[in-house]
Amino acid sequence: MAQDGNELITKHATMPPWGLEGKRILVAVSAGVAAYKTCILVRALIRAGAMIKIVMTESARAFVSAETFQALSGEPVYTDLWDDRVSNRMAHIELGRWADAIIIAPASADLMARLAHGICNDLLSTLCLARPRDRCLLLIAPAMNKEMWSHPATQRNAAILEKDATIFLGPDRGDQACGETGDGRMLEPDDLLQALEHALSPKFLAGRHCLITAGPTFEAIDPVRGITNRSSGKMGFAIARAASQAGAIVHLIAGPVSLKSPWQVHRTDVVSALDMKQAVDRALESMQHSVIERSIFISVAAVADWRPAEIASQKIKKQHGESAPSLQFIENPDILAGVAARSPRPFCVGFAAESEMLHEHGEAKRKKKNIPMLAANIGHETFGQDLNQLLLLDARGSRSLPLATKEKLAQQLIEAIASDLT
Ligand code: CTP
Repeated sequence: MAQDGNELITKHATMPPWGLEGKRILVAVSAGVAAYKTCILVRALIRAGAMIKIVMTESARAFVSAETFQALSGEPVYTDLWDDRVSNRMAHIELGRWADAIIIAPASADLMARLAHGICNDLLSTLCLARPRDRCLLLIAPAMNKEMWSHPATQRNAAILEKDATIFLGPDRGDQACGETGDGRMLEPDDLLQALEHALSPKFLAGRHCLITAGPTFEAIDPVRGITNRSSGKMGFAIARAASQAGAIVHLIAGPVSLKSPWQVHRTDVVSALDMKQAVDRALESMQHSVIERSIFISVAAVADWRPAEIASQKIKKQHGESAPSLQFIENPDILAGVAARSPRPFCVGFAAESEMLHEHGEAKRKKKNIPMLAANIGHETFGQDLNQLLLLDARGSRSLPLATKEKLAQQLIEAIASDLT
């Protein structure tokens, strides 16, 4: 009988909170067409459980009204250095003291210049200078015409701000409101949200490399057909996102899925189990032994156990009156067991997609593959879903992670891994 994981739970209770829930975010808006995207960011932050206050510059209000932000956030919008809604009329001090992070989106060239040189001529520039820098992060998402961004003056200001520990988010490359194409687009709201989550999460895995496989594999029968499974990749992508938030350098090797890469995650797309194995081997072979020893391999992919022995070079045609073609299969290599058999090897975490007897099958699989940790789940109940529940198995016993979003479970799994590593 496995022991209950109370020991693990006690250890986890002391871990600092992840991401945006309960965090105080000051969203600051300066002049730029991209201000409309900041409306979407504000909604997403509220949905993620953050507390919001909004500051706008005078010229930002030429693009989106203060009333729009007020309606979206349900909070007063601050624009005036002498705002008398702040009891001591020191909005520039109180707002900076309140915030865990300030995100300026969009950040104009003019605002960047003022921030770089400590010029305090409005509420936003003054509160940025006055904020307690040891506990209030400053993130800026520039948005401007490509000539303005690439101008040596702007680049000089960006370098000064970076030296002053400002976190730059973008800018991105693409079509611009002025009709040109180039560097200077503001990042999309989801990227800004993930960047904030990243900046505010505890760094349990700082400096460690984390290699993750995710999604299904596709084993070709002929040029148009193949065998795959219903894995969506959501769990593996959520784990990649959480590992990156926790400070790991993440390489995600994904089978065919239609998901966007998480923030700051390096991704390699593969199709078949053999491709996936090759990508995993290459990634490990590019690391020094001392790095592998401190790294983590999380094998979330639903790898096809077999592949057709031969792939027809042309589409197999239906022959009327003849029986269906019979396919011969050969077994695919077990990628996880292969990594676990290496020396040196990373800390290996497996997944078990079962249909019953989670504990028995999961523990048998953990031992058979010789890995320190395995997360078991009911495969057909979780494939493609946003929610899941896991049974975590390690040398200390088992622990249930009850029904939750895959993002939440991913964070709990990363905490458990960090706890087993230390
Ligand atoms: N796995 C792998 N390579 C394979 C098959 C599985 O790396 N060829 C990994 C999966 O990513 C997962 C773990 O092994 O982490 C268990 O996968 P699962 O499909 O549940 O188990 P199998 O080993 O395939 O055993 P079975 O299908 O008999 O349950």
